[in-house]
Amino acid sequence: MPLKIAFDIYGTLFDIQGVVFLLKGFIGDLAEEFSLTWRNKQLEYSFRKGLMQDYEDFSICTRQALDYTSDYYQADLSDSQKDSLLKFYKELPPFPDTVNGLSDLVESGHKLYAFSNGKCEDVEALLNAADLRKFFTGVVSVDNVKSFKPDPSVYLHFLRESESTASEAWLVSSNPFDVIGATSAGLQSAWVKRSFGAVFDPWGIEPTITVSDLVEFSERIS
Ligand code: 2OP
Repeated sequence: MPLKIAFDIYGTLFDIQGVVFLLKGFIGDLAEEFSLTWRNKQLEYSFRKGLMQDYEDFSICTRQALDYTSDYYQADLSDSQKDSLLKFYKELPPFPDTVNGLSDLVESGHKLYAFSNGKCEDVEALLNAADLRKFFTGVVSVDNVKSFKPDPSVYLHFLRESESTASEAWLVSSNPFDVIGATSAGLQSAWVKRSFGAVFDPWGIEPTITVSDLVEFSERIS
């Protein structure tokens, strides 16, 4: 049966740590830790802005988190350095399994959607830069409902946009908060455990399946 499959973007299709090489040129060996702190603060800001019901789009969370992280590490990044980091965020490298996994799923007749906290235009830019847009029936952004993952409203928004029921819809993400949010909203879910040391939150809400990459996901559901 053809399924409707929502793919998380940052950390699932695209490698956020791809920005480390650029950061290394600015701040040396601190780059890896800086990048992880930046990502965690970016997500924290989305959670806080959502809870406060004071929505600002994900690119603002990303910029403000970069400013915070630069101050936190006293990295003193210039505005032009920050601008080049934020520009790179629109052209992150896809993970190596992405093309094969997505093309297998399309060949099996499934309908794929990019589903992200990012604005549609930012997600479209990422997909086009990596020549991945052709695999997707659509791009669904939380920006249309002015909230963030894991607010149940964003998963319901995906179901409306993809004209699917929860039982025929899947969410594929490397981010446990996203998998737990989608599972709680009634979707089937796949956690892409992209690193051996990745830990899933011990909440008692488990993914439908756990896979190591998108090729395994395609094999498991076809
Ligand atoms: C997303 O792409 C933040 O990774 C999350 O929506």
